[in-house]
Amino acid sequence: MSEKRQIKIFDTTLRDGEQSPGASMNLQEKMEIAQALVDLGVDVIEAGFPIASPGDFEAVRQIASTFRGPEICGLARSNDKDIDRAWEALKQSSDPRIHVFLATSAIHREFKLKMSPDEILTRAVAGVKRAKGYCDNIEFSPEDAARTELDFLCRVVEAVIDAGATTVNIPDTVGFATPAQMSHVIGALVNRVPNIDQAVISVHCHDDLGMAVANSLAAVEAGAGQIECTINGIGERAGNCSLEEVVMAIRTRGDHYAFDTKINSPRLVPTSRLVSFVTGLEVQRNKAIVGRNAFAHEAGIHQDGILKERTTYEIMLPADVGFASTDLVMGKHSGRAALADRAKTLGFNLTGEQLQSVFEDFKSLADRKKEIFDGDIVALVENEILGQIEQEWSLVSFNLDLKFGQPPRISLTLKKGDTEDTVELSDGTGPVDAAFLAIKKITGVELVCKSYRVQSSSLGRDANGEINIQVEHDGETYRGRAVSMDCIEASIKAILDAVNRIIAAEKLKSRSAS
Ligand code: KIV
Ligand code: ZN
Repeated sequence: MSEKRQIKIFDTTLRDGEQSPGASMNLQEKMEIAQALVDLGVDVIEAGFPIASPGDFEAVRQIASTFRGPEICGLARSNDKDIDRAWEALKQSSDPRIHVFLATSAIHREFKLKMSPDEILTRAVAGVKRAKGYCDNIEFSPEDAARTELDFLCRVVEAVIDAGATTVNIPDTVGFATPAQMSHVIGALVNRVPNIDQAVISVHCHDDLGMAVANSLAAVEAGAGQIECTINGIGERAGNCSLEEVVMAIRTRGDHYAFDTKINSPRLVPTSRLVSFVTGLEVQRNKAIVGRNAFAHEAGIHQDGILKERTTYEIMLPADVGFASTDLVMGKHSGRAALADRAKTLGFNLTGEQLQSVFEDFKSLADRKKEIFDGDIVALVENEILGQIEQEWSLVSFNLDLKFGQPPRISLTLKKGDTEDTVELSDGTGPVDAAFLAIKKITGVELVCKSYRVQSSSLGRDANGEINIQVEHDGETYRGRAVSMDCIEASIKAILDAVNRIIAAEKLKSRSAS
């Protein structure tokens, strides 16, 4: 039997994925995700866009100097400043890749860049040559390639390969393409670009019409050798090609596809959970592969079929994508090693110090709650990770009086360094609104609540309540998240988490400006 063609998986969760509204991540969160991507076995990690912000630069720099295995990539527009900055961030990587992009479609040329086709060609070649002066591994993306005239696209691709590009990526930037069109474009590049054998063709599809996975698969069938994708399909607008879907489509339909990837598929669900936690972007229940209902059988006929023969209604094994066979895991007598093992299965690599702290919290939770579910463990680990984010303000205590028909009375004490500050007020439309007002008053941080979501993070009446909020401050969106058995306490902590993120981001901005 002939060997299957190996397709590279280029993960851009930390770059395009981070462009999802409200999904920005801090350094520590990006490092956690990068570790998960290494464990998942991706070929390339696009760690960020170094010129975009000091935070992006630092994340690419630390990921490049820490992780070995996947190639580490940084994005740059096709100009010297961007490319130099990208290299500065990447240079400590053992396997760096600079990703240069420039729009090529008529719409972008005319309205955004105001450049002629020849100017675009010259700028693209100059960008690739500049990047090539730093390292060998250069990717070039003609942005909006799927809407670019095919003759011009072929000219650009040929010229950038001549200039040294080793990967040419074909983005469907606005998710407009169809599978047949994608196949036609890639086929044309294969047949018409004379030096195409000197580069890998890549594909980068957005999901505006829900066709990103189908378009990526069509591109690979036509000759592409790399797929750009994100965990949970997050990304700009409707998102990108979903990594878990495209990988499992290739593997499950191995009878049809003559190619494969080296993804360690049982790590898909843990990685999906981690990304969802870190970004605050919930995975829809019926999402293919990683949604909670992806392997749930409700109809009696289906359950009956499954019991008689699993393959009647299941095309993949839940364990192959990382769903554990049981959710009920531990209790009071479980030990530290079992906890570390379960946390790893759920997507978290705990350091010795983190494990110690989570274990202590686990023991105290087990005293209050008989059955500890996966959701509880995730909540404990997440609280530990959140606790390590630079916390300017923390909650000391609160008191809340609620009477039907009257505004709530709240007394709230917060701490900053060694100083405690208390405010009492009787205002707001409800307890959460009162908490917002009190926190604003103490911290002085202006924030407008854009969304507030509450859900239970495990089973039972005594389950933890998980609060996710999005707030706006100075035109930017920030997240906040917290978990507690008391929903009001979790709400206050989630608002404080958002306040602390705002303060941390502003500190970073002013540090880089000085
Ligand atoms: O969608 C797009 O065109 C991009 C490029 C930068 C590759 O994200
Ligand atoms: Zn994109």
